[in-house]
Amino acid sequence: MTIKNKVIVITGASSGIGEATAKLLADKGAKIVLGARREERLKELATEIKSSGGQAVYRATDVVNPDDSQQLVQLAKDTFGGVDAIFLNAGIMPNSPLSALKTEEWNSMVDVNIKGVLNGIAAVLPTFTSQKHGHIITTSSVAGLKAYPGGAVYGATKWAVRDLMEVLRMESAQEGTNIRTATIYPAAINTELLDTITDEDTAEGMTAMYKQFGITPDRIANVVAFALEQPEDTNVNEFTIGPTNQPW
Ligand SMILES: NC(=O)c1ccc[n+]([C@@H]2O[C@H](COP(=O)([O-])OP(=O)(O)OC[C@H]3O[C@@H](n4cnc5c(N)ncnc54)[C@H](OP(=O)(O)O)[C@@H]3O)[C@@H](O)[C@H]2O)c1
Repeated sequence: MTIKNKVIVITGASSGIGEATAKLLADKGAKIVLGARREERLKELATEIKSSGGQAVYRATDVVNPDDSQQLVQLAKDTFGGVDAIFLNAGIMPNSPLSALKTEEWNSMVDVNIKGVLNGIAAVLPTFTSQKHGHIITTSSVAGLKAYPGGAVYGATKWAVRDLMEVLRMESAQEGTNIRTATIYPAAINTELLDTITDEDTAEGMTAMYKQFGITPDRIANVVAFALEQPEDTNVNEFTIGPTNQPW
């Protein structure tokens, strides 16, 4: 499937992986709909894409709010006449040991990383089901495949996403709705993700680890593009991707 002229919604588009993916897909001729909470960042990104000859619109979106996700998809339809794919990428990672009892952060991770993905799925599913076409891509994490100390709740949310996406794919195949899914499991990618960590020891350890191993977010953008570019009858379910030298 060619990416050119496809309408693609991206959450978490204001930085890191979402921003890099928006730029790459816009370069390939997609019509991009950007969502995140920091509107100023989205505005700057949309301006940059348009000044390079691409097409992009944006809307301030909190994925925790179901109505915001619905409105983001509606913006795609109102502006570009439909929606072909959504990249559910918004996420936070305020890691800490469970014993630190940062329960508000636990809840925020569940809200953004799980409910945010569910809200995005709910926003596109009726359209994808009726048009019998659509692609739902998510950013899980290697933390959704392998447990590590300090990452209990983050890993649990990313583990949940793995299950959701796998069942979504299976149900769509059963129901004959042709919805494709792809779940991406990145390891250390240099973005703003570590900024959400408030536990000092965890922040120190993870910063050192990312400094040693981290690679740039365009590597994940390439994988999103690869999934989108496959023929309509081909689903690439999962990608695990990270630095060659990271022994995670
Ligand atoms: N970097 C890594 O090593 C790595 C590894 C594995 C998985 N991931 C996953 O990759 C995804 C992207 O993260 P990143 O690494 O690119 O980090 P990032 O630079 O911090 O980007 C996170 C994005 O999520 C958005 N976001 C956070 N809360 C949101 C909310 N409530 N509503 C809407 N948007 C929200 C942020 O925008 P606003 O603050 O403007 O809302 C930002 O655009 C996340 O799901 C993360 O868990 C990252």
